[in-house]
Amino acid sequence: MVRYEIVQLLKESSPGYVSGGELGRRFGISRTAIWKYIEELRQEGYSIEASSRKGYRLISSQDRLNPYEITNDLGTKVVGREAEYFESIDSTNNYAKKLAAAGCTDGMTVAAGRQTDGRGRLGRNWESPVDKGVYVSVVLRPPLAPAETQILTLAAAVASVRAISEAAGIQAGIKWPNDLVIGGKKLCGILLEMSSEADRVNHVILGIGINYSQDGEDFPHELRDKAISLKMAAAGLKPGERDRISRLSLLRCLLKELDKVYQLVLGDRREEILDLWRAHSVTIGREVRFVIKDIVYTGKADDITADGKLSVSCSDGVRRELLSGEVSVRGICGYM
Ligand code: BTN
Repeated sequence: MVRYEIVQLLKESSPGYVSGGELGRRFGISRTAIWKYIEELRQEGYSIEASSRKGYRLISSQDRLNPYEITNDLGTKVVGREAEYFESIDSTNNYAKKLAAAGCTDGMTVAAGRQTDGRGRLGRNWESPVDKGVYVSVVLRPPLAPAETQILTLAAAVASVRAISEAAGIQAGIKWPNDLVIGGKKLCGILLEMSSEADRVNHVILGIGINYSQDGEDFPHELRDKAISLKMAAAGLKPGERDRISRLSLLRCLLKELDKVYQLVLGDRREEILDLWRAHSVTIGREVRFVIKDIVYTGKADDITADGKLSVSCSDGVRRELLSGEVSVRGICGYM
């Protein structure tokens, strides 16, 4: 789109100016048409200074999310090569599912500023207030059998931890299988949905929600002692470090890290993913509790197995392997 090509040129020339005439020549359009594009960009949140003698200069692109800012120069092999962005949508997973069914490319990304019907695991909803979170879904088409997709669940958690560390300088831990927590409170959730035949996956929708700038009171009552945002977690950082956390760079880091772990999955390098998961786990070695058919079990989480199950030495002396469902980890998200 021409207007983003204009942004690109202004970025390359920043902090210098580019004249309206020069822009017009580059794109083969009139100065008036350039001025209209500049106005559109300003409406989108780009701060562009205009000087009648020198031309246009990009002051800042704020923290705008749009397909251009998300995908431009991302350098990934698959994830985020193409993206769509919505200011408001019911659920990025729902929309990604439609794109996948219509045949979109591997790695197609859908992000939103707000979700009116954000969905979480186990049929829960995911609070998605305006511009306070990262809400993103990625369509993947891995050559896996349905039973092998657990590795993607774990890989997505690893990618999210690494992206948050890189973009925000904040270290989160992974609660099995893929919740990210800080100080015992949930920062990020991952919802993996799949369409498959008996022996092969058609597509997977990887939906990731990161609490970005909520304050404690922004969370619903029942979540207040269980949820945390990056802004809250960053309160302990120095002002300079705190201020550099941008939602756009966080999202871009996330797509890059997802791409890296996806390459590990495609290269059948599962052990590396499992080792990375173990390194960030706050589950292994801890006391856990889970319910199967109304019976409550407790025990110690020993490890994850090669196929991504959580192996638990239960207090009744039996070792059990869990593939999904809810596991409470002592000290995390309200299990004390
Ligand atoms: C969880 O329950 O922990 C998973 C939460 C997943 C939320 C994300 S936000 C983007 C994507 N769209 C959705 O509707 N859900 C996922």
